[in-house]
Parts: sequence; C-alpha cells; structure tokens
Amino acid sequence: MSLFEHQSNEFIPRHIGPNEQETKQMLKTIGVSSVDELVNQTVPSGIRMDHTLRIPAAMGEHEYLEHIKEISLRNKTFTNYIGQGYYDTIVPSVILRTVFENPGWYTQYTPYQAEISQGRLESLLNFQTMVNDLTGLPISNASLLDEATAAAEAMTMFFNSLNKQDHIERHRFFVDKEIFPQTKDVLLTRAIPVGIELVIGDHREASLDQTYFGAIVQYPNDKGVIADYRSFISKVHECGGYVVMATDLLALTLLTPPGELGADCAVGSSQRFGVPLGYGGPHAAFFAAKDDFKRSMPGRIIGVSIDAQNNRALRMALQTREQHIKREKATSNICTAQALLANMAAMYAVYHGPDGLKQIAKRVALLTQTVADAILERDFELVSDQFFDTIVVKTKDIAAIRAKAERQHINLRYIDDRHIGISLDETTTPDSLYDLINCFENDEDPVTFDINYDDDLSHIPTSLTRTSAFLTHPVFNTHHSESQMMRYIKMLENKDLSLNTSMISLGSCTMKLNAASEMIPLSWVHWSRIHPFVPADQAQGYHYVVKHLSDYLCEITAFDACSLQPNSGAQGEYAGLLTIRAYHEANGDKHRDVMLIPISAHGTNPASAVMVGMKVVVVKALENGYIDVEDLKAKAAQHAANLAGIMITYPSTYGVYEETVKEITAIIHQHGGQVYMDGANMNAQVGLTAPGLIGADVCHLNLHKTFAIPHGGGGPGMGPICVKKHLAPYLPGHVELKDGATKNQHTAVSAAPYGSASILLISYGYIRMLGNEGVKRSTQFAILNANYMRAKLEGQYDILYTNHNGQCAHEFIVDLRPFKKSAEIEAEDVAKRLIDYGFHAPTMSFPVPGTIMIEPTESEDKAELDRFCNALLSIREEIRAIEEGKSDKKDNPLKNAPHTQFVVTADEWKHSYSRQQAAFPLHYVTLNKFWPSVARVNNTYGDRNLICSCEPIESYMEAEA
Ligand SMILES: Cc1ncc(COP(=O)(O)O)c(C=O)c1O
Repeated sequence: MSLFEHQSNEFIPRHIGPNEQETKQMLKTIGVSSVDELVNQTVPSGIRMDHTLRIPAAMGEHEYLEHIKEISLRNKTFTNYIGQGYYDTIVPSVILRTVFENPGWYTQYTPYQAEISQGRLESLLNFQTMVNDLTGLPISNASLLDEATAAAEAMTMFFNSLNKQDHIERHRFFVDKEIFPQTKDVLLTRAIPVGIELVIGDHREASLDQTYFGAIVQYPNDKGVIADYRSFISKVHECGGYVVMATDLLALTLLTPPGELGADCAVGSSQRFGVPLGYGGPHAAFFAAKDDFKRSMPGRIIGVSIDAQNNRALRMALQTREQHIKREKATSNICTAQALLANMAAMYAVYHGPDGLKQIAKRVALLTQTVADAILERDFELVSDQFFDTIVVKTKDIAAIRAKAERQHINLRYIDDRHIGISLDETTTPDSLYDLINCFENDEDPVTFDINYDDDLSHIPTSLTRTSAFLTHPVFNTHHSESQMMRYIKMLENKDLSLNTSMISLGSCTMKLNAASEMIPLSWVHWSRIHPFVPADQAQGYHYVVKHLSDYLCEITAFDACSLQPNSGAQGEYAGLLTIRAYHEANGDKHRDVMLIPISAHGTNPASAVMVGMKVVVVKALENGYIDVEDLKAKAAQHAANLAGIMITYPSTYGVYEETVKEITAIIHQHGGQVYMDGANMNAQVGLTAPGLIGADVCHLNLHKTFAIPHGGGGPGMGPICVKKHLAPYLPGHVELKDGATKNQHTAVSAAPYGSASILLISYGYIRMLGNEGVKRSTQFAILNANYMRAKLEGQYDILYTNHNGQCAHEFIVDLRPFKKSAEIEAEDVAKRLIDYGFHAPTMSFPVPGTIMIEPTESEDKAELDRFCNALLSIREEIRAIEEGKSDKKDNPLKNAPHTQFVVTADEWKHSYSRQQAAFPLHYVTLNKFWPSVARVNNTYGDRNLICSCEPIESYMEAEA
C-alpha cells in the first residue's frame, strides 16, 4: 500500500479494534487459520455475496471532513420564519459542548441498567417535570420520536382506552383542520390500518356523538391563532371522548396550560428548547396526560424508586409494558426514542429557568406583535389578532413578496396562494425585523417600525394568559451561571457508564464506535440550521447526502429503493409493513393480513404487525434456535389464502446464520406472502451477504446500530427501509416532499420528510471513511470478536446456539440458567456484578430468559475483549465458590452487587468477603474504577409508588423504605 493509499485507509484500523498481531492470536484461540476461514465456517455459502460492494473506496478522516464541509455549503442558511412546528433556537454553548458534542452523553445506552444510568435518568426526570409543569398535566414520558407521531400515539391511547381489541364501539377521531399538515398526515397513516375514521373539520362547528373516542386541536394552531378550547373540550367529554392538545412549550410559559383547560393529554416537540433544526431532526417530542392514563401511556416513563440501601434511585418505571413482554398487546411501539434530545431540552430549561424562559417567550411575542403592527400599517390583513409567535398575512401577491424575501435570504411560509405565515423564534432580534418587514414594504419607503418595550402582550387573550407558576423546583432555579451548569452536567455525566468508559456489549444493539469525525459536522451551521420545509434548492447538501446514502444502503442490502423517513427500528418495521400492506391491497389482496413471526423475534415485530392491522401467528423454533421449517410450512399453508408475509431477523436473534433461510423465504413467496427482514443484525451481513440475497423483499436498517449513529442514552435513531422494486411505489410519502419521487403523498410515518435528517451524516461519514473494503472488514471483525469471546468463555459457561461448525455470528448467548439451581444466582446478579468490574451488562434475557447476549462489535480491541472475558471468568469463579459452599448463598459479591463507594467505605462491613473483592475484584479495575452511584435498584417499589417528576429537594438526600 502506498503512503497515500495508507492515508485514505487510515480510518479502517481506527474503527476496527484488533490489529494484525492481535488478530493472529485471536484466530488461534478460535482454532482457525484466517479471518476468511472463520467467515466461511460461519456464513452459509449459498447466500454469500460474490462481488465487492459498489460503494466508493475509503476516504481519510481529514479528507472526509473537507468533503463534507464542501457538501454542507450547498445548503443555504436563510433566516427561517417558516414555523410549522420547527423553530430556530440558540443551543447554549455549554450544552452544545458538554452534552451534544460529548461522548459521555451521546454514547450511552437506554438506561435499562439503572445503577449506572442515574445521570441521564435524573435529566430525563427533569424533562418530565418540565413537561408536566408547562402543560399542567401530572404524568409525562421521556420521550417520543416527533410531534406528529406523539399525536398519533395519543390517538391510539384514547382509542384503546375506549374500545376493546375485538370490539370497536367508538371509531371516530375528530381532527381540527388547523393542526399542522404533517401531523394530519401521520394521523391518517396510523388511523387507517386499525379502523379509525378521522373526521377533519372546524372544532367550533363539530357535531360529536358517542361514535367519537376523541379529538385533537392545536394550541396555538397551525395559523398561529390562540383559540379557547374550553367549551370544545367539554363537548368532547360530554360524549365520553378525550382531547389531546398539540402545543408548544415556549408558548405555554405565557398561555394557560392544556391541563387547566381540561385537556386529557398534551403533545408537541421540545425542539425549540435548544435543539438544532437539523433539516427535521432529531428532536424529542413530549407527551403528557392525566393520571388516569399512567398505565397506558406510550414510551418510557422515568420514575423514582429506592436502592438496596434505601437511598433514592431512579429507573424506567412500568417496564413490563415494554414490547418484550407484551409483544402484540404492547401499549405502544416505542423502543429507541429521543433521549439525548430530551436531555438537551431539559438542560435548556435548567439553564434558563422559569424566568429566563418567560423572557425568551416575551421577547418572541413582543417582536411578533411589532411585525404584525408594521404589516397592518402597510395595508395587509391578518388572519387573526390573537397570536403568540406566528401571524398569517393575507395577500394576493405572494410572488412579489416571496421574490423579495428570497433576495434577502428569508424564508416565509407560503401556505397557499393567498396566505403567508411568519413565525418568529428566539434568534429573531429587533435588527432582523428590518429585512422581514421590508418583504411587505413598497420599494420606495425606508423600513421603519416601533418596538414598545413596555407594551403589554395585547395579542395574547387575557382569558388564556398563564397565571400558574411553573418550574418551581430548585433544579430549575439553581444552575444559571455557566460554571454551575457545566458542573451540574458533569456531575450527572459521571454517574453514567458510556462507551468512553468501557465496551458495552449489548447483543442486538450493536454499540460500536461513534467516531468523532462522523459526529463533528453535526454542529456546523450549514447542517444544523436548515428548516425541514425549506425549498429544495436550499437543501442541496442534504439532498446529496440523502441520495448517496440511499444508493449505498440499496447496494448494501441488494435492494432497489430506500426511504430515510423512519426515526427508529420499530418505526422502520411499521413503515416496511405498510409497504407490504399497500402492495397486497394494490394487487386486490386486501384480505392478506396474517404475519408469521418466529418465537425469537424482538417484541417490536409483533407490535408493528398489529399497528398495520395484521394478525400475528407465531412460528416455533427448534432446539438449536433455528426456525422450525416444518412448523413454518404448516402455518404458511394453513394461512395461505390470507398470508401477508413473515418477519425474520437475520442472522437470527439467537446469533446464528440459518442455512435454511432461503428455503424459508421461498416458502413464504410460494404462498403469496412477502418477506420482511428486521435489520437489527445487519452488522453481520454488510459485504458478506444481503437481505436481497437471502430472498427478503423489504428490510429496515438500524442506522444507530450498524451504521454508527450513537444511541444517545435511548435515542436518537434512524430506521430507514430498503425495498425491492415492486414495493418501491409504496414507500412513505410526505406533504412537504414535493419531489414526485413517491406516488403516495399521504403515507407519512414521521413529521419530517427525511426523519432525523442531520444524523444521516453520521452513517454517510461511516460508509465514506470505511469505504467498500472497510464496511466488509467491519462485518468480518464483528464475527471475529464475537467468536473470540465465545471461545474464551466456552467451557466455563454454556454457550447457546452455535452452528454446525461450533461458530456463532456477531453475537452469542451465554446461558446463566444453570446457576439458579447450583448457586441461586440469577442473570440479574451477574449483570449487576459486572458493574463492579466496570462493565455494562450485555443484553439481558432476550431472546431467551435467564441468559445474556454478548455482541462485542468490531470496534473493540483484544485488550478490552480480554478484560471483559476476564471479568466474566472471575464472576464464574465467584459463582463456583457459592456452588462449593465456600461463599454464602445470600451474602456474596453477586447478590450484593453493585457495591457503591458508600457501602465499601462505610465504617461497618458485615460481609463474608472483603471490601477489596467487592470493589476491586481484578487488578485492571484499580486502574480505572467506575463507581455506581446507587446500589441495586428496587423495581417493585418504584412501580408500586409511582413518582414521575422531581420530588421535593429533601428526598434527594434520603428516601424512606
Ligand atoms: C431485533 C430487533 N428488532 C427491532 C428493534 C427495535 O429497534 P429500535 O429500538 O430502533 O426501535 C431492536 C432494538 O434493539 C432489535 O434488537
């Protein structure tokens, strides 16, 4: 390799852990002579890709950053007054630098292991408290994918609350015509498959009856109008229905909150609380509701509990509602959401506090009022004179105004050919008003206007002016200087174990490196300040990335078309199944509604099938973990007339490449079904095989797994879908996507046309810097690393499900069930003990209860893999001591794990093992000790005493049992 080729390929060894020397040693441990031999023994020959991926060769890191800078300049950073749910915002620098750009925050996993997640759980509790206070509703979650899907979740929650699954009594949902168009679209997509009828009209004229289960209104509405919904809400309640208000957090600092108006639920986006526009995302949606809904609310709710020492400890509450347990009966399908962005929004509220937020809101309202007055003075009419940040101007001459606005690099919202919307935000200054007002000025007079700083906010109706206090908790009234804020963020960060501490070997979740060069461009203004609904010619940089990334993903999957709209894997499943549904419908096969799903499938699979109105039929597994082909054949034949398809994960969730996969896909096709492939395990396919080669018709890709988007402590994520040609016409559309690329303009699954567009850059960067060789090598090394660990642990632990050569795929399952009998040790004890060794537990009890599933990824080097194996081997010895009666069954390092500093340094130590063994069981731990901030968290206590917002300050010090 020449010096220059070397530079172009520099990222490959930075992304992939093991070097040449280590690779040799690892191959020896596995008992094969080369990586190729290992792959040949692992991936069935019948499905192997026989060509090099047609994606570009690798780029060096610096070269990539130059390239992506140049592409970014194709985006035009106009001043946006478009609004419609997206507003420019000022990300406080301290939050930008210490949260958004900090791997200590963005590389975390979803806080399932509560003991090492107290920092982000605390911040998410702040988010919930902020949402509760501002909406005036007692319970909220943290968080949802976007405003439109949050509205759809509210609709579904109401629908399920008032109907039984097999008996629909109320099927109508009233939609006020003045909600955001993208929300309307997503509601429509969600409503149709489950039999909900949307009735769109004016809430003031709605005639409702017992067939309605609920209604949605927007506050302030799509045209910026602040309407009083009190009587409408009463009307809906009189019919026995519920009301959700889509709303705006900044406006709610000045307006009477939905809870005080009688609404049952409030949803919206927290984007304008310091989260960049990013051409549509990622942003966190919020969802708040009355107490009655606390057990049926979608998404993750953070709750307060206690730990083993009776100290206050946080956890995700009511986790039994998760899809894992409830599968097709799940209350929602939220897995990956937008935790990182919820944290940013919460931090914004912590930093500004209630007074700061109110000042921002008042500034925005005052400037909007000033613009309104100036425009009225110029003989225009406004649609309403009751507004907060948005006015709509009536005009017959849109073209001239638009031309002038664009000359000044201003985007207004051109609603139709007679109405222009103008939405202001916290970046608007008195100076910016000159250009804005100039758009409505004749070309002769100089622009003048008056701002009366002492003016009342006369356009906010007195009857809807907020009188109640909010954000009174000390956390929102303390950290207002940068020093304090920086330390608060750091204090929380220190409580959480992230990838910058040690490997996180979560099977199926693929916690690989999120490289700095992939992340850096996200902070650049040409990516971050683009509104999702700007004219296409202003987003050419984004369109370049969308086009090329789509092409690469099609090539990698061996498919023909791609939609980048879904914001998570689960949403990708939903979108993919919608394409199958639409395809069958177009072929006159509307009745095809049976989806076969293997027993080992992730809970989101059956939950997604139900969301598109399908019936789930479970397919059995054999003892070796393979799909039971005989059972499959029988069920496919039995349901042939109505077969919609199958959902499979490949390699399977048991971590093996089934040789029978092509037979499976053929059986489904023979019976008229379509094959959906869950792409969670795509990290074991790229460059070696592909969904298209195994016979699938559609798949989603978790860009936050295989393609390096960080997990952000529970989101963001992206779940684009790739399809074969025949499904391409049924890919999601979008009202604002006027490129004619898709036939369906009203099948949106997300609020923005390209979902969380800004993070697409990460996956694009990943592919460009690894190149065609590097992405394949990543797959090979993912398999190498997993098999190396498997080989090291075999003999001491039972490994479930390897193939006939004894190899696993990119992950493997360790069976911990035998220890229950031999030592009364459960999988949870091992998971918590790993914390004492400085590690996050692997995936617990999925897909097999009582096991852990380890996926090291290609990004870990041998030393880290060895450390992790040594931890597990040392834990095995600790279990053996119990088995042999040398250690007590109740009082041992596993049962008492994790050990906090308080426990270890307490004056009293009553255990039969030493403090040293408790906290520093191996030498490497002494070099980089990670202390859990709480001891084992009590789950039952938390669910029985549900507290989901910040409690009084005293309780932070000590909780009572
Ligand atoms: C096999 C499988 N399918 C689907 C999902 C859901 O993906 P997401 O969390 O992005 O919604 C997961 C998540 O871990 C998974 O492991």
